[in-house]
Amino acid sequence: MPNLFWKGKDQKRLSNINKSQNIYPFHIKELNRYPLINNLGAHNETIKIRREEYHKSKLISEKWTNCLIQGDNKDILNSLLQNYTRKINLIYIDPPFATGGDFESKMFIGEKDAFTVTKAYSDSWSGGIDSYIKFLYDRLILMKELLAGDGSIYVHLDWHVSHYIKIVMDEIFGRENFKNEIIWAYPAASAKTRRFFIRSFDSILFYTKSSNYTFNDDPNIYMEFSDRVKFALKNDDKGTYYHRGGSHNGKKLSQKVYISNQGIFPRDVWTDIPYIRANTSEYQAFSTQKPERLIKRIILASSNKDDIVADFFCGTGTTLVVAEKLGRRWIGSDIEKHAIHTCRKRILDIWNSNNLIKWDQKYSEIPQPFRILSINQDQIDFQKDKFEIKMIKKRKSLSIELLDYTIPDSNLIDEKLKSKIENFSDWVDSWAIDFNWQNNYFTTTCISYRTPKNRLLNLTSIPYSYDAQGNYIIAVKVNDILGNETIQKYNVNIE
Ligand SMILES: C[S@@+](CC[C@H](N)C(=O)[O-])C[C@H]1O[C@@H](n2cnc3c(N)ncnc32)[C@H](O)[C@@H]1O
Repeated sequence: MPNLFWKGKDQKRLSNINKSQNIYPFHIKELNRYPLINNLGAHNETIKIRREEYHKSKLISEKWTNCLIQGDNKDILNSLLQNYTRKINLIYIDPPFATGGDFESKMFIGEKDAFTVTKAYSDSWSGGIDSYIKFLYDRLILMKELLAGDGSIYVHLDWHVSHYIKIVMDEIFGRENFKNEIIWAYPAASAKTRRFFIRSFDSILFYTKSSNYTFNDDPNIYMEFSDRVKFALKNDDKGTYYHRGGSHNGKKLSQKVYISNQGIFPRDVWTDIPYIRANTSEYQAFSTQKPERLIKRIILASSNKDDIVADFFCGTGTTLVVAEKLGRRWIGSDIEKHAIHTCRKRILDIWNSNNLIKWDQKYSEIPQPFRILSINQDQIDFQKDKFEIKMIKKRKSLSIELLDYTIPDSNLIDEKLKSKIENFSDWVDSWAIDFNWQNNYFTTTCISYRTPKNRLLNLTSIPYSYDAQGNYIIAVKVNDILGNETIQKYNVNIE
């Protein structure tokens, strides 16, 4: 079989995968186990019930907790090998495409329409295409180890590199395990070129680990009928049908043919999924965000309920929220703290997103517990005097008001951005409280956050009721619009 060679290719790497590993420990940064969410108002009663049920049921240590991991995914993949080798059922990745540019994300400011643009991630490769291929190759061979025997991997790319990576995938996963090159075609309305044809599709390479793999004929992955077919379809009390025409002995025949599905089984060209638009509820103002409907088809086809779905370049967390809504367990990772912060809010706010099966309805469910882990960082860096709070005590109940926040390194911030800030709270994107700090990590008990659609931020928390009198430590965390995270601890006496 022909092979691809690039500068720095380590040909022995594929067979030596389990030998030269750097295993870094994971550190828990944050646990989100049914926190109260200011924006959800009366729905918090449901969260409280769910939290109590959770504590009463099975031993908590035996329960699976979904994971969002911050760090370079090469280290993360290496470290996951310890516990997850052959355990992950489905991997979807949407890595940088070697476009040579930087990608941006919009950060909205306060409650107004003002925003600032920040770099989301870089896609420039100083070592050229060779360094890009090496980057992906090193990670894909680790992903293969993590994939279950009947698992699948989908690698989302475009014309820049999909042809190289297909050869790399053949080498790693085996040519015989190639299933599809899915063409996701979208209208490229903004393309200005008249020098060549407008590029308007991405390629998704679908490989399985073996010939025995999960693939579901699920009615919810079907593509809509074409307009011509839809026009010909009719309904009666027995269902949906079309007329099959023909003739016999010169006589015209017409037979009703009933159909059982509301669409056709998907081909490998997907034209029915538009790119994210700013007016949709899933919009996260991140230029390379992928549509939930795209990932829904992949997850429903290639995994079952409770399976583990992973996305190691998770960006805004599209794969994670889709996995969550479809009842799968999930692991996500990203190198950028801004991406992790976006995922965290998007998962907590899943309540307000579309139901994937009945698109015109809200999902309305609370997310399952998830942890935020990091690699290479074992100490939480507590700050002093970066923000000011007021404690409002009423017997055994406590609520916190955020009174002020000072942005770090203010002298380095662009004057144009500073001129858009009217109030300290305009810097704040979310803030959270751990009312009973006990571990070495932050357990979110209550959180308030802004989303691209809901800009309101509550500056007074929901009251928290302590079971008993005593001295407690509370921790307050502020995440600002520039991606800084600041935690301060306080002592409190509950009488
Ligand atoms: C194309 S975006 C993913 C978008 C995502 N599919 C979504 O729907 O939002 C690629 C992501 O990969 C992340 N990334 C790039 N290099 C990485 C690395 N070495 N480890 C982890 N994440 C990385 C970037 O920060 C970026 O968020």
